[in-house]
Amino acid sequence: MPIFYDEKTKTFKLDTDNSSYIVAVYDENYILNLYYGAYIPESYVPDREKRTTNASFSPVNPVIGENGFSPDTAPIEYGTHGAGDFRISALEIINKNGDSITDIRYTGYKIYNGKKEIQGMPSTYVNNESEAQTLEIYTEDFVTGAEVTLYYTVFPEYDVITRHIKVKNVSSDNMRIERAMSMCLDLPDMDYDMITLYGCHAKERNIERRRLAHGVQGVESRRGSSSNTQNPFVALAQRGSDDEHGDVYGFNLVYSGNFSALAECDFNCTTRFVMGIEPQTFSWLLNSGESFYAPEAVMVFTMGGIGEMSRKLHRFYNNNLTRGRYKTEKRPLLINSWEAAYFDFDEDKLISFAREAKKLGVELLVMDDGWFGHRDSDNSSLGDWFVYEKKLKGGLKYLVDEVNKLGMKFGIWFEPEMISPDSELYKAHPDWAIQIKGRPLTLCREQYVLDYSRKEVRDHVYGMMKKILDSANIEYIKWDMNRQLTEVGSATLPAERQRELWHRYVLGVYDLMDRLTTDYPHILLENCSGGGARFDPGMLYYSPQIWCSDDTDAIERLKIQHGTSMCYPCLAMGAHVSDCPNHTVGRNTPFKTRGHVAMVGTFGYELDVTRIPQEDRDAIPAQIEEFNKFNKLVRTGDHYRIGNMFEDNTWDAWEFVAKDKSEALFEFVQVLGRPNERSRRIKLKGLEADAYYYEENEPDKKISGAALMNAGINIAKMWNGDGLYGDFCSKILHFIKV
Ligand code: GLA
Repeated sequence: MPIFYDEKTKTFKLDTDNSSYIVAVYDENYILNLYYGAYIPESYVPDREKRTTNASFSPVNPVIGENGFSPDTAPIEYGTHGAGDFRISALEIINKNGDSITDIRYTGYKIYNGKKEIQGMPSTYVNNESEAQTLEIYTEDFVTGAEVTLYYTVFPEYDVITRHIKVKNVSSDNMRIERAMSMCLDLPDMDYDMITLYGCHAKERNIERRRLAHGVQGVESRRGSSSNTQNPFVALAQRGSDDEHGDVYGFNLVYSGNFSALAECDFNCTTRFVMGIEPQTFSWLLNSGESFYAPEAVMVFTMGGIGEMSRKLHRFYNNNLTRGRYKTEKRPLLINSWEAAYFDFDEDKLISFAREAKKLGVELLVMDDGWFGHRDSDNSSLGDWFVYEKKLKGGLKYLVDEVNKLGMKFGIWFEPEMISPDSELYKAHPDWAIQIKGRPLTLCREQYVLDYSRKEVRDHVYGMMKKILDSANIEYIKWDMNRQLTEVGSATLPAERQRELWHRYVLGVYDLMDRLTTDYPHILLENCSGGGARFDPGMLYYSPQIWCSDDTDAIERLKIQHGTSMCYPCLAMGAHVSDCPNHTVGRNTPFKTRGHVAMVGTFGYELDVTRIPQEDRDAIPAQIEEFNKFNKLVRTGDHYRIGNMFEDNTWDAWEFVAKDKSEALFEFVQVLGRPNERSRRIKLKGLEADAYYYEENEPDKKISGAALMNAGINIAKMWNGDGLYGDFCSKILHFIKV
């Protein structure tokens, strides 16, 4: 069993296959973290307790102070505000007297197999009870009557421990939660680099690595969604570690709203890391008897470097986070109308896309933005989810039937959280937009955000969506969100609950996604937020794929997809082949390279298949054949990053290796041609060292896994086609075990 309790030392030991996490109940029922790192057999680490020694300005507990115990220096398991622990806190509750001193102490525990859901929120799950074990540690603030439960679920196979908390008000008065982090972790040193993912629209999830320094540092979102500016992911990687080597802790929040992920290094050179809902935009009134749940945080530890951290998260999310039939089934290969037509289409144009695409091997046509209300540009009709009949003459059913007759599936775009000022919906319900009375409402992409804390708003939008979904054979939905939240106020929440709207909004989105995926389990849901502005584990729970970025340029995508793979599985990355010059950066790249780069993710097309150059069209059937050939390996194999465009932007490479090491797909992009360079030596990764492999096109040349990984292979300098340009060429190699 992965969770042990030692009565004598009052110690909880949580073991995964390769890591241990140890928590102990100390004097006066303080809960201390004694260890988190590589597996150790001991369940008690006495040296860690000695670190409780106080410094001259550190307050001491009156009862056990003489032992040298100070809440300011002890490795507190879940740090609270105001009772002697000056570090960044995980919990702050304002009580009936108006102060916000919070101090929780141990009261008991429970251990059980499996894992419970978190009410109203996405979370990782077990496929069977024996896959994981859960520990609940009970605590209470005896002065205020806040009962706090710390939840830990151990998934041994993935070296993952998930955490969240519940606050229950057991007093007879109301209290207000000002801060409730999902996790807190005290590490005994600060010898780490913090790795985070920053970005913006069309440039999401760039990797940034910085050395931890004294003070508070970290990343946050106050945009109302998890955002494209920072992702709710942080790794603390041992200094000097790289993709293959070193101790790495990974943290990811299963939440799609505002978040904080902060590390504080103190005068003792220790590190406290907290992750959870962002406190400045959060406040929650908790009436007597009520409970509040914080979202789930995922922790992973490995000694195998950053790449191994990523693979552990990929496997874990593929197995214990994404759901529905497309968790394992091959996804339909789609063509999307957005970059092909933008708002300028009618039913004939869409049918002609479907007809041509079908001939080439595509399986599903997605009608993107522009099919509803009177939407001819992005300045109207969001909220009017009925068919724009002037555009789609004959209606939706006619169009879908025609597409189906061609042997193609049909998918549709919605942006359910939004409302255009120029819409029927806004005319009827102006108060349904999130707003503050008396303040001008900020526009973004000519639209406002609906108040999803209101059930009647969600019901109404869902009613419209349902009508559309029931009217024709729709097998895919792209759920978009093209702005973030400002002037956050609700017409119905009382003054004392206005600041709850940020979180209530997210809960409302989850509620609607839950209804949608429950009522239409056969539909493939792809999440999107102007590309990848809401690429987070919360969304992955509802939609097994997320549009990675609006930037579809193959070369830009190398970085975007590399950064995304830090914590998210390739299987989740929406990636398409688009036309050139690329619509975002104006770059021309070979059609072949565009295909190889899109093959990292879900793969599909985003171009006017009736108008692209004939040679590109001619290349599609073979490109699709190649995609189909490797799709299972890409879906089920392990992903290894080999090149790193953040460090050397002249080349990139990666690999997908079958779990049983029986085959590997190697992909290489020569980003820039360079003079005086005949070839480049690349070392493969993840193979079985003792086994022999051959490349599919050279069956007689057997090479050991050891040689492929240690001596490497030479990739000869490439020229692309007759035009002889050396930039942006790509190549794939398929290694098969003898
Ligand atoms: C967002 C999406 C695009 C497309 C447009 C439509 O930007 O990321 O893929 O759907 O909206 O307006």
